[in-house]
Amino acid sequence: MTILWDLDPRASHAYGFALGPDTVQIFAAGQVGKALQEGNHPLVVIGPDIALEAACSLAELERIDRPELGVILLRHRVDVTTLAQALRSGVREVVQVGDQTALSDAIKRSLELTAQLSGHSHSGGSGEGKVITVFSAKGGVGKTTLATNLATYLASTGAQTLLIDLDLMFGDVAISLQAVPAHDIGDLVSMRGHLDEQGVHSVVTRHEDSGLDLIAAPSDPGVADRVPAAVVEELLRVARGMYAYVIVDTPPNLTEHVLTACDLSDLTMLVATLDIPAVKNLRVAMNTLDTLGASNDGRVIVLNRSDAKVGLKADDVEVALKYEIRAQVPSSQSVPSSVNRGVALVLDEPRSPVSVAIRDIADREIRMRFGEQVENGAKRGLGLLRSKK
Ligand SMILES: Nc1ncnc2c1ncn2[C@@H]1O[C@H](COP(=O)(O)OP(=O)(O)O)[C@@H](O)[C@H]1O
Ligand SMILES: [Mg+2]
Repeated sequence: MTILWDLDPRASHAYGFALGPDTVQIFAAGQVGKALQEGNHPLVVIGPDIALEAACSLAELERIDRPELGVILLRHRVDVTTLAQALRSGVREVVQVGDQTALSDAIKRSLELTAQLSGHSHSGGSGEGKVITVFSAKGGVGKTTLATNLATYLASTGAQTLLIDLDLMFGDVAISLQAVPAHDIGDLVSMRGHLDEQGVHSVVTRHEDSGLDLIAAPSDPGVADRVPAAVVEELLRVARGMYAYVIVDTPPNLTEHVLTACDLSDLTMLVATLDIPAVKNLRVAMNTLDTLGASNDGRVIVLNRSDAKVGLKADDVEVALKYEIRAQVPSSQSVPSSVNRGVALVLDEPRSPVSVAIRDIADREIRMRFGEQVENGAKRGLGLLRSKK
């Protein structure tokens, strides 16, 4: 709820248009501090009759205790001295009384910034949310399985998580989680150039079991061609300000969209199987990523169906890839049967060896890598799985 600190009883009516209904007016300075301590308020708008010194000292104090709080100052006249003093004390914006559009723009900007700052605190790491792209140069190797299960598990730990289906033609993220998307990534095209958090929210589908947000691929494959790679770039830049983790599922080739995602990723997770042609293609794809300057330390190889009896071993794959395999996921009938039932295996059968392996990858290669404290790795009590932070 927004706090309006103003001495004039008519103020909430006067600024009501810009402030919105979710506002409470407070008259005394002491009450403002108290309200901030007691409730979760994203914004204080300070009226023109409150002395500049009083307004600045509130901003200065709260800047330390509550850095995510926005403070907007209304003045009858905005001059350089007022502006300088206000901004120095931590006021986000100074708006002239009467300019309702400027006030509502300032409020919108401030609420967005607050949402971003609060979102970040979930990641446990520093700065922005982390983008993780799951890729392989071949279809049917387990990208979608890995991406959906990693994402649902991360969401179930309480981290704000978004899963994006970049397999624009044949994406199956939504169906494998039994989600019914009202919107999809194709709806972002019209927002190109001015995509903001609200725009991202408007295309997201919520997976209720885990709290995961997902952005589905277009239901019509014909729409895929109309989604420019620039939209993906814009989406990832906005989304990483909103979520602790953004997981990207991909088609089995290095499309412009995939390259864009890899370029913006903090981690690229490459899925290999015990299959020589697939390994060869993965090596070729890695070379391409190398030439594009993708960093090696942001790369992890996961071997899926690692126990398949096909006369090839993990060591052979490492030799062919010239790269260490960091994690292995065994084969299990539970995987296709969970997909057919539309449930995430990590939530539905947390004790299955595949779930244990995927949780371990999420804990080790994602959560701990990006600075989260993880209790006892994947072995901790399964009862904690669904609990929110
Ligand atoms: N570890 C596994 N054990 C058994 N089946 C698996 C495993 N990983 C994936 N599968 C199955 O293989 C098929 C392809 O997996 P998917 O994740 O859709 O691959 P991709 O996204 O790379 O095309 C699916 O039917 C899936 O259920
Ligand atoms: Mg897939």
